Amino acid sequence: MRKGDCFLNINDNVVILAGGQGKRMKTDKPKVLLNVLGEPMLEWVIRACEDAGLSQMCIVKGYKAEKIDEYLGGRYQTVLQSERLGTGHAVMQAIPFLEEKRGGNTLILCGDAPFIDKDTISGALALHKEKGCAVTVVTSVIDDPTGYGRVVRNDNGISGIVEHKDCTPQQLEIREINSGCYWFDTAALLSVLGEITPNNAQGEYYLTDCVELLLKKGLRADAFVSQNPNVSLGANDRAGLLRLNDIARMEIINRHLDNGVEFDCLDGVIIGRDVEIGGAAYIKSGCRLLGKTKVGSDSVIGPNTVLINTSVGESVTLNNVYATDSVVENGAEIGPWVQLRPNSHVKAHAKIGDFVEIKNSTIGERTAVAHLTYVGDSDVGNNVNFGCGCVTVNFDGENKFRTKIGDNAFIGCNTNLVSPVSIGDCAYTAAGSTITGDVPAGALAIERGHTVIKDGYAFKKLAKRNEKFAKLEKEQKESKK
Ligand code: UD1
Ligand code: CA
Repeated sequence: MRKGDCFLNINDNVVILAGGQGKRMKTDKPKVLLNVLGEPMLEWVIRACEDAGLSQMCIVKGYKAEKIDEYLGGRYQTVLQSERLGTGHAVMQAIPFLEEKRGGNTLILCGDAPFIDKDTISGALALHKEKGCAVTVVTSVIDDPTGYGRVVRNDNGISGIVEHKDCTPQQLEIREINSGCYWFDTAALLSVLGEITPNNAQGEYYLTDCVELLLKKGLRADAFVSQNPNVSLGANDRAGLLRLNDIARMEIINRHLDNGVEFDCLDGVIIGRDVEIGGAAYIKSGCRLLGKTKVGSDSVIGPNTVLINTSVGESVTLNNVYATDSVVENGAEIGPWVQLRPNSHVKAHAKIGDFVEIKNSTIGERTAVAHLTYVGDSDVGNNVNFGCGCVTVNFDGENKFRTKIGDNAFIGCNTNLVSPVSIGDCAYTAAGSTITGDVPAGALAIERGHTVIKDGYAFKKLAKRNEKFAKLEKEQKESKK
């Protein structure tokens, strides 16, 4: 439990069911690791729990369990369900985890229903506690309940959940469905888990049977109707997964529209849920803004710009830019066709033009790197000008070295700066130079041969060629006679 979440009890905990395969997805990844807006569905579920203040989590893995372990990297406890015998059987695998938390309540979630949210989790727990329930089922009322378990209500709460395949014709008419999310009193859950049997249409251990078993013990069961219309949505095939992506995408874009962000065409626009965008920023088509990216107000991003964990200031222009783990300060103008590789820091009002790659470098204020240049592992000062086609030669095949360029330096066209090397403030390098030694402040460095003029050389050469071709032509004519 985190500070401020006084609503939760110290033993309150979560079990996330993540054992399923998702055969129709046609992949060897467990279904819960398939992405919605670039993040696995399981991560969406974990985040909802964390947002609700829950930190004691147990994830039931099954199909390709090692991939779940690899993804989680030890963040949360996992337990293996070696055969998929149903949702009840999946929860049984977590019994040792639950035994330690008998005094609390257990939230059960499906790892493949990514849109569960913290308000639903805490709203359902509030009802659960207020009514003293042994189980509180999160439900939603939907137009097409096909495939879902139906919630049967009575005057006292609910009397059970009937799976679609086990429904009577009347029960099939019920539109209130089980979202697959529940709060259980942990001790009560433990008391009935062992009593579930697979006597049903699918021959599975249904977790939903717990409801009737608890009622039989004289305990209380109720339902919390979630206001989140997407709470129960999952995906069984690729088209379904695409629908989840569309829903998440539009929800996020609508939030930015409300904040005053401008879009004129949403084609190809994907914005991750943690991205922050200032008001009056303009996002053009083909932009993917992902991870912890931030964009300041009045910036113009796109078209076709990818920003991953990149922080962009105000009034910045990024046109056809691909940037990862980088920082761009206010008023910088970048693009078209620029890559900022990790750990690049472009300072205020710098200009980076076409076919430039920056990597692990700082580019100072008002510095211009306008065309066809590679700047790697470099510290570039303010007001520097790079001519066309410059290269920092930062790698000798084994080690990488840094290049340092002082303020107001002028790097001539087609300069190679063989690092480690330092160019002083206000120094010049002559076009075409390969600089291997440090250049003092204010100096000009030239490393190239002088131009040698050979008068008439080309004319003589041309005359010889013409002579040769004339001879060939003559021979051809004679052989045809
Ligand atoms: C379940 C509910 C149904 C509800 C629906 C909501 C049961 C019996 N039925 O049905 O009432 O409307 O969810 O989506 O619980 N899982 C395992 N191991 C297993 C079986 C499932 O880990 O042996 C996991 C799956 O990976 C998935 C979750 O449990 O994350 C739900 O399983 P699924 O097979 O989709 O349940 P439904 O039949 O849809
Ligand atoms: Ca399902």
